[in-house]
Amino acid sequence: MPHIATAQAHANLAFVKYWGKADATLNLPLNNSISMNLSEATTITTVEFDDSLPADQVLLHNSTVQQDQTQLTLPFGEAPQPAGAGFAQRVVNQLDRIRAVASIRTRARVTTANSFPSGAGIASSASGMAALTVAAAAALGLNLDQRTLSILARRGSGSACRSIPAGFVEWHAGTNNDDSYASQIATPEHWPLIDLAVVVSREPKKVPSSEGHQLALGSPFSQARLNTLPERTGNIRRAIHERDFETFGRETEAEALAMHTIAMTSAHVADGSWRSGVYYWLPDTLELLAAVQEWRADGLEVYFTLDAGPTVHLLCLADQASAVIDAVRTLETERDGRIWEIMRNEPAGAARVIG
Ligand code: PMV
Repeated sequence: MPHIATAQAHANLAFVKYWGKADATLNLPLNNSISMNLSEATTITTVEFDDSLPADQVLLHNSTVQQDQTQLTLPFGEAPQPAGAGFAQRVVNQLDRIRAVASIRTRARVTTANSFPSGAGIASSASGMAALTVAAAAALGLNLDQRTLSILARRGSGSACRSIPAGFVEWHAGTNNDDSYASQIATPEHWPLIDLAVVVSREPKKVPSSEGHQLALGSPFSQARLNTLPERTGNIRRAIHERDFETFGRETEAEALAMHTIAMTSAHVADGSWRSGVYYWLPDTLELLAAVQEWRADGLEVYFTLDAGPTVHLLCLADQASAVIDAVRTLETERDGRIWEIMRNEPAGAARVIG
């Protein structure tokens, strides 16, 4: 019997953010979060368990996307290379969790490819851990339900649990390993929402989200955000159900700013020096956030959200997307003419076995 399977998973974009952990070992979050799977940001992973392997092997297809490209496209061309030690160890740790479920010790060869470059403001850890989990479980013939797969993916990377179900998804924070998982709120077809990810810089961020999570509770505003979240999360869930774009946009934009307020007020010491907070924004980021306010005043229905990086995610309905892209291009010419890369995402499907 072949012990090999390939799976595909999409990255996701949070409207209610996961920012801060209640349990760092289990990746239990402080709050429920809501997201959408992103059509153009996928990971494809093949896992082959092989009795002759002395150790796990992790191979990665490197991105071939060019710096000056203005559209991000699939780069699956070249031969895979051994992954860096940090990433390889996270893969091995996740394989160990799945081997424990199957009660086996066989080592595996893992080959993984992303459709999007790192540094585009979309974390590949979510799609990567979701694809790895689904492929490894399938290769071992484990017939796991979506909730169990989501729980396992969460152990690899918190937000990965949201890449298991299709479309619009809520991660139930839970209180222990078995009740912290994501489930679907609405199918991808339910609502033609578009995320235009405007990549203002490809520089890797200085503070990874794992550190941001740790610092979050140190901000004096963290508890204030947590107090408002049950109502806000309910509003965003309801707005998705009712396709109420205005409520969705206002609440999502306010939540992104709440998360960044916490990051910017998470005082800490790094490299021996005191810092008042973590700043993920660049000047271009702020310029776009200000432009969105003006575009809305001019009647364009567009809102933003941001993850732990400078990329601005412009949210609009499908029939407004070309007008929003035009507004971005006009802003570029009014500035210095430099073109930002834009990735256009629609709501996407579940993590699944392919091939
Ligand atoms: O899953 P992590 O540890 O990469 O954290 C994700 C953090 C954010 O992207 C900023 C928010 C989120 O909910 O995805």
